[in-house]
Amino acid sequence: MQRRHFLKSGALAGGALLFAKGLGFAAPADSRIEVLLDEPIGTISPNLYGQFIEHLGGVIYDGVWVGERSKIPNVGGVRKQLVEKLRTIQMPVVRWPGGCFADSYDWRDGVGELSKRPARTNFWLDNPDANWKQLAGNAVQHYESNAFGTDEFMRFCRLAGAQPYLAANLRSLPALNFDRWVEYCNSPAGSTSLAQQRAANGSRDPYDVRFWGIGNESWGCGGDLTPEQYASEFRRFTSWVPSYGANLAFVGSGPSDNDLDWTNRFFEHIFRDRPDTDVSPNFFGWSVHHYSWNLSRGRTQDWQTGKGDALNFDVTDWYELFRQGNDVEQIITDQWEAMGSYDKDHRVKLVVDEYGPWYRPGTALDPTHLFGQQVSLRDAILTAFTLDIFNRNAEKVGMAANAQLVNCLNSLFFAHEDKFVVTPNFYVFQMYAAHQGAQAVRAESSAPEITYMRDGKTARMWGLRGSASRKGNVLTLTVVNPSADATREAAVVLRGARASSATATVLTSSDLHAHNTLENQAFPEPKTASVSVSQPVLSFTFPRASVTKLRIELS
Ligand code: AHR
Repeated sequence: MQRRHFLKSGALAGGALLFAKGLGFAAPADSRIEVLLDEPIGTISPNLYGQFIEHLGGVIYDGVWVGERSKIPNVGGVRKQLVEKLRTIQMPVVRWPGGCFADSYDWRDGVGELSKRPARTNFWLDNPDANWKQLAGNAVQHYESNAFGTDEFMRFCRLAGAQPYLAANLRSLPALNFDRWVEYCNSPAGSTSLAQQRAANGSRDPYDVRFWGIGNESWGCGGDLTPEQYASEFRRFTSWVPSYGANLAFVGSGPSDNDLDWTNRFFEHIFRDRPDTDVSPNFFGWSVHHYSWNLSRGRTQDWQTGKGDALNFDVTDWYELFRQGNDVEQIITDQWEAMGSYDKDHRVKLVVDEYGPWYRPGTALDPTHLFGQQVSLRDAILTAFTLDIFNRNAEKVGMAANAQLVNCLNSLFFAHEDKFVVTPNFYVFQMYAAHQGAQAVRAESSAPEITYMRDGKTARMWGLRGSASRKGNVLTLTVVNPSADATREAAVVLRGARASSATATVLTSSDLHAHNTLENQAFPEPKTASVSVSQPVLSFTFPRASVTKLRIELS
């Protein structure tokens, strides 16, 4: 079964590996990274570091929302530990309420007095992985209580310091309902009936929501539309929407993976069918969803049988996941080129608002956590190099959202009842936060290629890659060494600036399968150490299976 069809139906290693010395004393370098400070790529939008939360399994209920009367420490119903951790990674933007859920959601159900809010069927009720029998008949995972709605979401955003990114229902509600949601969120205090309703619900001032997704996966769970049908709907939903002074930014439902047919036909319709009309200046982004799921080594494209396990993997599976993740760069390149043949000035940016690994069920921390899966060192490496891809394409990618923040696919946190733990991905976002808002500059790496056996045939994988950005006199260079066994002795060369001091933060583990559970925080925290600098080259040993951030002060 194809994914599209599925949706239609239903540290320091060993304490000694990290070191840095003047070039004259280092072991001979096998790798080289050149940072070209005079070759800017673009500003890295902080919004590349966004997250996604959906009414799915344990993401909202149990993950984000515990309720105001809960004994679990909370701030106005939002899990307190989550908020505290999110502040340390500077989460810039968060996408809600879906995902597929968005196209079955009526925002009006989730506002007003709690006791009067209706219970509704959750989109994911019939999902084959939902493990229906294990849950109580009226579990919130199946019958949405609407306890967490627009006002609670805005509270969460404010607590976390993030901007909201709302996904509108295009499949099952008319455009007027979308207009009204914008009105509820953005109309000035005291102006409309909805502004008064919002005030009665706790917020006199408008929420000034800028980012709006126009449906989700409209080629699948968002309506099974053709690109032409979706383009017509997109036009209706985005024309003449009152802005209330907010600089609205609409995100179109783009392709699954690298579906160029979807993109070409949509853009053709939007940009060429009515040359007399202007394309909405608020058409900000074109979403891309990419999951790294097929670990079958090329044997099948079947969505169910092609998946691997989150924890039970061998070295081939290790590289196969990365092979899938590498596609993100090609997708960005190809989609950008396709969009450019219609949108010549590239007004519309790419929005990668769902990405991460997707394994077969079996490692969720609780049966209510639909699509819950473990997060190991392997996933942290995948996440890190995906963020590096975004940084390297900073002029093309305007926003991104990791799927999903808590208790789901590529989570940063696991939470169940009063237990809470970070995953290795949390550390990656913490390390990479330094790139937010910085100027991306070119960084070219060369390192011995990795080879591994893929069903009797040799397969290849790059040896060392990363991204670089400059903010004032600080250069941040993040680098992934994906090798399961080889350290890399690298010469890091700066062109166009001199380093005065540097520190290195390294995330790795002696165990490729290292991960945390609610009971055992076994994954080692990243370790930071200073690096001695000698001009014009920094020598650095990148441990095997590691993510490194070099923070270099420029003189
Ligand atoms: O992230 C889980 C689901 O994957 C989302 O709801 C959907 O958009 C995608 O197919």
